[in-house]
Amino acid sequence: MSDRPRNLNFFAVWAALVVVLSGSQLIAAEKEITISIEKRVDDLLGRMTVAEKIGQMSQVNAADGAIADSLREAIKTGKIGSILNQVNVDVVNEMQRIAIEESRLGIPLLMGRDVIHGFKTVLPIPLGQAATWNAELVRKGARMAALEAASTGVNWTFAPMIDISRDPRWGRIAESFGEDPYLTSVLGAAMVKGFQGDDFSQPGNIAACAKHFAGYGASESGRDYNTTNIPRNELRNVYLPPFKAAVDAGVATLMTSFSDLDGVPASGNRFLLKQVLRDEWQFDGFVVSDWASIQQLTVHGFASNEKEAAFEAASAGLNMEMATTTYANHLPELLEEGRISMAQLDAMVSDILRIKFRMGLFENPFTDPSHYPGIANEDHLAIAEQLARQSIVLLENRDQTLPLVKDELRSLAVIGPLADDPYEQLGTWIFDGDSSISRTPLHAIRQFLGDRVSVHHVRAMETSRSRSTEGFDEAVRAAQMSDAVVVFLGEESILSGETHSRADINLPGNQHELLSALRTAGKPVIAVILAGRPLTLANIVDKVDALLFAWHPGTMGGPAIADVLFGVESPSGKLPATFPLMVGQVPIYYAHKNTGRPATPEKFTHMDDIPVRMPQSSWGFASFHLDAGYKPLYEFGHGLSYTKFAYSDIAVSAAEIALDETVTVTAAVHNEGTVEADEVVQLYVRDLVGNVTRPVKELKGFQRIRLKPGERRKVSFVLGPDDLAFYGRDMKLITEAGEFHVWIGGSSEAELHAAFKIVDE
Ligand code: NOJ
Repeated sequence: MSDRPRNLNFFAVWAALVVVLSGSQLIAAEKEITISIEKRVDDLLGRMTVAEKIGQMSQVNAADGAIADSLREAIKTGKIGSILNQVNVDVVNEMQRIAIEESRLGIPLLMGRDVIHGFKTVLPIPLGQAATWNAELVRKGARMAALEAASTGVNWTFAPMIDISRDPRWGRIAESFGEDPYLTSVLGAAMVKGFQGDDFSQPGNIAACAKHFAGYGASESGRDYNTTNIPRNELRNVYLPPFKAAVDAGVATLMTSFSDLDGVPASGNRFLLKQVLRDEWQFDGFVVSDWASIQQLTVHGFASNEKEAAFEAASAGLNMEMATTTYANHLPELLEEGRISMAQLDAMVSDILRIKFRMGLFENPFTDPSHYPGIANEDHLAIAEQLARQSIVLLENRDQTLPLVKDELRSLAVIGPLADDPYEQLGTWIFDGDSSISRTPLHAIRQFLGDRVSVHHVRAMETSRSRSTEGFDEAVRAAQMSDAVVVFLGEESILSGETHSRADINLPGNQHELLSALRTAGKPVIAVILAGRPLTLANIVDKVDALLFAWHPGTMGGPAIADVLFGVESPSGKLPATFPLMVGQVPIYYAHKNTGRPATPEKFTHMDDIPVRMPQSSWGFASFHLDAGYKPLYEFGHGLSYTKFAYSDIAVSAAEIALDETVTVTAAVHNEGTVEADEVVQLYVRDLVGNVTRPVKELKGFQRIRLKPGERRKVSFVLGPDDLAFYGRDMKLITEAGEFHVWIGGSSEAELHAAFKIVDE
């Protein structure tokens, strides 16, 4: 007990300082705190044995309801720094009590959990949240998830997942923010702030974890855990920026990827963990491995045994091992042999202690659930609903089929395996999600329409994968009896997420057949797709009058979808990932390079139109597929509205700027329709010539605005040297003189453009 940290009232002092100080005084006070935390870290470290230090670097899985004797003993003897997967608050408090009262140094535990998109109240999957292009809402979602999780004693989430993902076959694209480094950076940073709050040391704020460092999203063929080969230049310009943004936002922890990067597995990758993260970015939080990923260095064939695996991971500075015990088993020996020095060990442990101090964990190790707002309270449900509503993307709307007009309807057929399934609307990674509070689309539609409109519901397929057509006749009869058909199709939750990659990303099972059958009823057909990834939808586009993509929308998916179907709110989601025409186009993304032979409409000929025995050399010579062309079905940033937005009057504040100057790009957005609606205004840039080839377009800004019918608004974006910088040939971040094109519009195919030059005076 006497060995406890002495500075227990430290945060009370800080709070008092904040009250009485301001401005530069506060910065000085913050410095004081940093110094003080470093002192506390050094002091504590100085009193730790080697075994206790290695204990801090060990995280064990303890999901059981009771604390096993061996675990109790391990906590008591300081052999554990963190637990994962325990969410029973009494058990968590007891674990903390053992750590604090019964261990020699009383160091509290980090309690980790995958709080990926909500806790009990489930938010849309992250890919759906990305479709909102609403950083503030994403922040609020993370905040509410943090509060729900923290009320059970969880103080660390393994989120956000900010792997750039350009392959919809990869099941984990669901957990990502999609294909774009800028959108992912902005939303990832927002999520970090939501979890960690403004003052990380306050209860209710939990540590975030940016994962998976780095390159996991580039797994070959979208098969999970697969090899990644990413040229350094692309790594720096595409895959790393979101992690840099998370570090700049103050993220407490990072998690290594399961994958290898150019032959070096992430958990033993000194280039990533030392050079980039520590030396270049000056990250002073800590890094946790993924589940058993240190041990798996042997399976990769990167280490000959577990001792060597521990050596490689520790040499890279990986601070904490998740789930396995290669550190606990082998670090003592590696230290004795002098292969890992005490200084290396101390540095790794300090990073962990620093975060525990910063979190205020020593001051507030215990959790009293009554100090938290109730789980799934009205505010939380409202945030979940707003996120779901803004995530819905209108892909097609022939003859303004949508919105449905309540007063004109007498009957509506609601069909499909996902119309009324409280569990399947939640999506992947919902350990704690409570499907009993889900509001399904069927429920919400019935509630909205009331008794006057007859709703004919037929599930038609047991699951999204069903091959049986048994329910089809009944579904067609319901369609015949109704004024319109809303059919809920897509993927069940289990078809996306970790290990759930697909090679065929069409609608599974007999869903096409169901659509064809419904079509025979001759009624307008509206398809609402619930899924964890972009799907290939070209083969259903002609079978529907309107098409909404709702991702896995979470607890409040039902009311959100009903609002959009009936025009209470216009759809405003925009695609965070390209939807391919067919899977063979993958990877297909908007920010591709121009190549030496770019495709154009004139150069493309479909294989069906090529004359027989045409000489090889006479056609095309451009970058396309003979059977698919070179365009996706729906481009990045696409999403229709119930109103029409017109863009005009693009202007740049200067035709030429110096290397260190900024340029302001403006345009007018006009709501030409009759409906008040949100629009996500997007800014794209092209750097025409670089010392390495540059993408044909890159997102550099976006704003969600709301316009009344007839309203016109000027939007402006400021571009500075940092926005235009890239990693060039020698891997240095540079901004080059030259010509730039800019576009402002409602998708990555925006046409309204202007140009400016950077001159090197
Ligand atoms: C494996 C996953 O890759 C990672 O994202 C997750 O956080 C951990 N398991 C812990 O559950």
